[in-house]
Amino acid sequence: MSCIVVVGSINMDLVTLAPRFPGPGETLLGSRFLTAHGGKGANQAVAAARLGARVSMVGALGRDAFGDQLHAGLAREGIDLAHVARLDGEGSGTASITVADGENQIIVVPAANACVTPAQVEAARETIAHANAVMVQLEIPLDAVEATLRLGHTLGVPVILNPAPAQKLPREWLQLAGYLTPNQHELATALGEDTHADFRDLMRRAPCPVVLTRGGEGAWYRDAVHPEPTKQAGFAVEAIDTTGAGDTFNGALAVFLHEGLPEAVRKACAAAALSVTKLGAQGGMPQQAELDAFLANRPHA
Ligand code: RIB
Repeated sequence: MSCIVVVGSINMDLVTLAPRFPGPGETLLGSRFLTAHGGKGANQAVAAARLGARVSMVGALGRDAFGDQLHAGLAREGIDLAHVARLDGEGSGTASITVADGENQIIVVPAANACVTPAQVEAARETIAHANAVMVQLEIPLDAVEATLRLGHTLGVPVILNPAPAQKLPREWLQLAGYLTPNQHELATALGEDTHADFRDLMRRAPCPVVLTRGGEGAWYRDAVHPEPTKQAGFAVEAIDTTGAGDTFNGALAVFLHEGLPEAVRKACAAAALSVTKLGAQGGMPQQAELDAFLANRPHA
């Protein structure tokens, strides 16, 4: 069984379904509102847990109603929350999400997520030392991201750095990452390069292995064994809500890394495809059996 540690954000997603995205100053009538559990860190943790991994999370929640619901949700998924702080006087993170035509727009208010510290990462040293992989994203303070990269590197545990939301990052941090998992825009931004540059050239310029996601088209990967960017085609499905597809991809990638990068990327693409077929970031994330059944019908993909 894979052991995975996720250092990252936990949000309550406030989701509105709309016929289209409103323009500045415009009011639209939406068709539905729901709250759904989210946050890039929590989503990646849930994705990995549903695929059979033992998952521990490092993060922070407010001591509010959203915090209680999010904590209970993660516990129901079997995720170890010993390193998730509950903070007095802080709200839990939220994400206001508009979904229109299967696409989304998101505004995140980090709140408690902004209080995740390097000391919390250090406190999880023993857990990280026994993990097969660590995942971290950019919805928590950058000093905690750096601490995760350095600790994983020191302990010889690969860190999957998902550089989302997009930010320019010190090149030295990228060198510490076991894998960088951006989309094209995030890769260009992390490297401080032109966002319109050819994504294969950007992949060649990264100082670490890269797995680049291309939405429904699939993903490309490049590492020491595959020095030229190599494509894994996506799996055709009807997209209802793409929120959390990248997080599902990351969670699955971490779980299946021990099967080799090409197979891990193939399973990650399949898990991400399944995730977009239901509403909510965690709504469509598959269980192991669902993923196996989906892939059994597509043996040559
Ligand atoms: O990646 C999707 C996630 O981004 C949402 O669940 C939302 O909380 C934001 O963090």
